[in-house]
Amino acid sequence: MKHQIDFDRIDLKREAPVEEPARQYYFIAKAREYVHKVSKELARPLTAAVITFGCQMNARDSEKLIGILEQAGYQMTETEQADLVIYNTCTVRDNANQKVYGRLGALNSLKKQNPHMKICLCGCMMQEESALDKIRKSYRFVDLIFGTHNIFKFAELLCTMAESDRMVIDIWKEAEGIVEDLPVERKYAFKSGINIMFGCNNFCSYCIVPYVRGKERSRNPRDIIREIEALVADGVVEVMLLGQNVNSYGKNLEEQISFADLLREVEKVEGLERIRFMTSHPKDLSEEMIQVMKESKKICRHLHLPLQSGSNRILEAMNRCYTKEQYLALVERIRQEIPDMAITTDIIVGFPGETLEDVEETIDVVKRVKYDNAFTFIYSKRTGTPAAAMENQVASEVVKEGFDKLLKVVQDTARERAALLQGQVQTALAEEMNEQDSTLVTGRLSNNTIVHFPGTPDQIGKIVSVRLKECRGFYYIGEQITESG
Ligand code: SAH
Ligand code: SF4
Ligand code: F3S
Repeated sequence: MKHQIDFDRIDLKREAPVEEPARQYYFIAKAREYVHKVSKELARPLTAAVITFGCQMNARDSEKLIGILEQAGYQMTETEQADLVIYNTCTVRDNANQKVYGRLGALNSLKKQNPHMKICLCGCMMQEESALDKIRKSYRFVDLIFGTHNIFKFAELLCTMAESDRMVIDIWKEAEGIVEDLPVERKYAFKSGINIMFGCNNFCSYCIVPYVRGKERSRNPRDIIREIEALVADGVVEVMLLGQNVNSYGKNLEEQISFADLLREVEKVEGLERIRFMTSHPKDLSEEMIQVMKESKKICRHLHLPLQSGSNRILEAMNRCYTKEQYLALVERIRQEIPDMAITTDIIVGFPGETLEDVEETIDVVKRVKYDNAFTFIYSKRTGTPAAAMENQVASEVVKEGFDKLLKVVQDTARERAALLQGQVQTALAEEMNEQDSTLVTGRLSNNTIVHFPGTPDQIGKIVSVRLKECRGFYYIGEQITESG
């Protein structure tokens, strides 16, 4: 999206303003001057790459980083052979951290070939002291490190980095206010994520997110609606409202507003066709929410409802605040009211103290709910969380046995659910040309199922009617239905 500010007209001879976002506009202008100068010296444009790990929240943050880099004059590339590389990191499971360490090693050799190269790290992993220490000691070639709470300051930090020959580190323990109106560059022209809240107050005992993303903070509803209206004016037809626990939206705001109220407001935005949101915590999904979803013409028929475990003993130790029975009753209510709602979930296997009998309880829930898809994770011990201090950590052979058994059931039910759509006519948002077969368009149904159908690039971003002809496991081959047909 074109940003409204003319950065070339900002007077850099003056002091930087104190208030935000004006202060960051100033530093974008300053970074622009720097990029222009170096690029003139090298007689080529400066390139930058943003590599994202982790969830949708990080993906959205990366769009903000790219927005600032583009305004600063960098040419974006996908490869790490660039003048500036940022890793936007995740730390939810240890394998996410290991990936970053592995790739950083490779970046170091690229940096040896390009003396102008700058390496930056940000995101959730940087909020962890142990990770930060390790990078400070063993990855001394990194130029800039910042965290999740000060990402809005990226332009300012770019300028500090340009003037410094040492590693610049700026990590905040807590967030201050929410800074609005910074540039952002979307990955897709026709759909966009929107943060509606930041942080999490739930403290599930296995989870590091509340420690690295801070306390729950909701954005002002008017800022959210204004952003959505601007996106729609810029060609967006689908939004995904983002938060770690969207059902508790509004709780820390002065004015009385619930997530259901916010959804009603978003529904009114003219020109917007589809609304998605993520993630719903089962304990906070109200009857009012079910009614709003049922009555809505725009809310997609897909609900991601993380189960984590089907065993009451484990759910309690996880601090999830619901039982197996409550979860099943909630799903039943949703299915009663909205029969075509696809339900997906997240499940953890190997939480401390979990036995194969507990996994059987989880499998029982999967069989009853028949999830359209489930992301299954092996428990990863995160330093500082209550679960990491529990003594009864599970042996990896036991975890594997339970995990494999669960995965098979998950795949069977997902296949069974997918097959139900055979022959139906549904609307799909055409998202991209198929990578393997360029005569096919890849579209997404309201319930999040993927369909490939013969089509052309001019359809990308449009909502089209398709007949679901052939189910291939989890996705469909379809054909477009014309208005008259
Ligand atoms: N806020 C979301 C989840 C964010 S993390 C929610 O509560 O649903 C995404 C998923 O990662 C979680 O649902 C959980 O299944 C998984 N996860 C979180 N911490 C984990 C850990 N320590 N080990 C394994 N999986 C974990
Ligand atoms: Fe983590 Fe639980 Fe918060 Fe989700 S709700 S981010 S799993 S603490
Ligand atoms: Fe990972 Fe942070 Fe998201 S830890 S899952 S990127 S909130």
